Parts: sequence; structure tokens; C-alpha cells
Amino acid sequence: MKRFAVMGLGKMGVDWVANLLEGGHEVVGFDNFSAARERAPGALAKGLGWIAKKRHPDEADFAEKATARFRIVDSEDEFAQALGSCQILLEVILEDLDLKCEVLARVAPHLPADGMVWTNTSSLSVHTMGVASGRPDRFVGTHGMNPVYQMPAVEVVRHRDLAEETLTQTLELLVGMGKSPFVASDVSGFWVNKHLVPFMLEAMRALERGEITVEDGDIGLKGSLGHPQGVFKLSDFIGADTMYRVSMAMYLQTQDPRLYPPAILARMFKRGEFGVKTGKGFYEWDGFKAVKGRDFSEFAITSSDFLLEV
Ligand SMILES: NC(=O)c1ccc[n+]([C@@H]2O[C@H](COP(=O)([O-])OP(=O)(O)OC[C@H]3O[C@@H](n4cnc5c(N)ncnc54)[C@H](O)[C@@H]3O)[C@@H](O)[C@H]2O)c1
Repeated sequence: MKRFAVMGLGKMGVDWVANLLEGGHEVVGFDNFSAARERAPGALAKGLGWIAKKRHPDEADFAEKATARFRIVDSEDEFAQALGSCQILLEVILEDLDLKCEVLARVAPHLPADGMVWTNTSSLSVHTMGVASGRPDRFVGTHGMNPVYQMPAVEVVRHRDLAEETLTQTLELLVGMGKSPFVASDVSGFWVNKHLVPFMLEAMRALERGEITVEDGDIGLKGSLGHPQGVFKLSDFIGADTMYRVSMAMYLQTQDPRLYPPAILARMFKRGEFGVKTGKGFYEWDGFKAVKGRDFSEFAITSSDFLLEV
């Protein structure tokens, strides 16, 4: 059993907490947004409910016992104090390199000298954050997939100053929690997003051009490539805010025009249409249920308008 400190209790932070509690660990959590702290227990109960039903059906008190090992603190000072008795800090705040570096530089020094830092970043330089934390050798990327407790893979990001011991300990801890970790490099998009993000952005551009509708696009990929939900639903689960930030970060890192956020995504980001978490994105949402795909045809240049008459 280890003691984890989780910073950021949004979508991914809370899902990580559920998985860590299932692994038998103790967790202290903090978010600097009071509404996120208030929402966290309800979201955690949902996650633990799913885990109990699917993986611990014979343990009547699973969720209750797991929840007893979790507490939320209300200030960064309290969190820093709690870090003194934790072995691992897991950073899950929003995808902004300057913010992450600033927060890590402030908070990581409160860990014991042999404490490790994990980051759930999906696209930012793990090495840069490691340096900011003051302990790059004990700093590793642990990119969990959404929803963390349902998706086995964790992308463990190795960078040039990472100590082998940290990598080994991280892999062992993740395997012990029932995860399927794999090692990836600290390059733009690591391994998963290097493939997934350009694919998703291209689908969004096809939607902009009026080549496909939201629902048909997802039905097509689900029924042919075996995707569990299709790209538009997946984007709504990730959130247009995170999708936009990840895509812009990858564009700035590579200057690859395919990674520049499409207008449809930028528009959603600006309008606060973040998908599941705000009830509107590529779909209209009722909680976690997609009610219907939105009609973007008024924005589209139809495919025949797009073709040159040659
Ligand atoms: N959403 C996904 O599908 C997904 C998948 C893989 C990785 N990620 C990564 O996980 C991280 C979090 O993403 P998310 O989707 O959970 O975002 P989110 O917006 O749901 O949650 C981020 C939380 O961080 C909090 N926060 C911001 N600054 C803070 C600070 N200084 N101290 C404490 N809390 C702070 C915010 O209040 C918010 O609640 C990002 O790095 C993202 O790229 C997201």
C-alpha cells in the first residue's frame, strides 16, 4: 500500500483516484477549484460503483472501504503538508505546460526525498516538467486513458533524465493495480496521441466539409474498425478544452499543419461546449448518455462546393 497525493480532481484525476483506491492505496486529493472539490465525491462514487459491479461483485462493502482511504483537502497549504507523508504525487491538472511547471515547482519539494512524481499529461514535455519539479530522475509520465479505471493501458513516458529505478517502480506499481503499462518516448504525442490526434482532427475536418454527419461518422468507425465509440463521441468524452490544448501543444511542438486545431474544435473551445462535462459538444448529452448528434451543416462547405470543376 502506498500513499498517493493527487493534484487536480477533474475528469481524469477522480478516475485515477478510483483506480488507486481499488489498488489498495491511500489517497489525498486537492483541486484549487471549489466546485471540482464538491463534485469529486459524486464522480468517485460513480467510478467505484462501476468497479464494484464489474470487478468486485462479491464484495458488498467494496466502495465503502475504498472511500474510507480517500480524503480531500481544501487548500494547497494543507496539500503540501500532506505530501510530506506521501510516496507519490500524481499531477492531473489541466493541460498547460507553464501552469504545470509552476505548480510542480511549488508543490513537489514537499515530497520526501525519495518520493516520485507521476504526470498524466497527454502531450506536454515530461522532461521539462521533471526539471521544473526539481527531481527529474524521480519524475515520470503516466498517461492514463479515459476512463482510467476502465482502460487498462497506461503510457509510461521515459525521458532522458529518468532513473531506471523510477521506471521499474512505476511499472511494478501499475501492474500491481491491474493496469497494462507500456513504455513510450517523450516525443510529441508520445505513442498513442501521435496516432490518435491527427486521426481525430482529420475526422473533424471531414465534418466541417460536410462529408459526414456526427452520428454516421461514429457508426461507421464503430462498425468497421471496431472503435468502442467512434471519434466524435470520444472527443466529447475527452472534452473540447483538452482536445484543443493537446492539439495546439502538438502543433507548436512539431509545426505539422495536420495538428492545428480545426475551426470546429476551436469554436467549441471558445463557446465552452466541452462535451460530456458541459452537456454539449459534437453531441447533445444527458449526463453520460448521448441524446443526438448535432447538425453542423450550417457551418459546412459541402463536398461538392469543395471540388474544382475540372
Ligand atoms: N480528458 C481526457 O480524456 C484525458 C485523457 C488523457 C490525459 N488527460 C490529461 O489529464 C489532465 C487533466 O485532464 P482532465 O480532462 O481531467 O481536465 P479537467 O479540466 O477535467 O480537470 C483538471 C482539473 O485541474 C484543476 N486545476 C487547475 N489548476 C490547478 C491547480 N493549480 N491546483 C489544483 N488543481 C488545479 C482544475 O480545477 C480541474 O478541476 C490533462 O493533463 C490532460 O491532458 C486527459
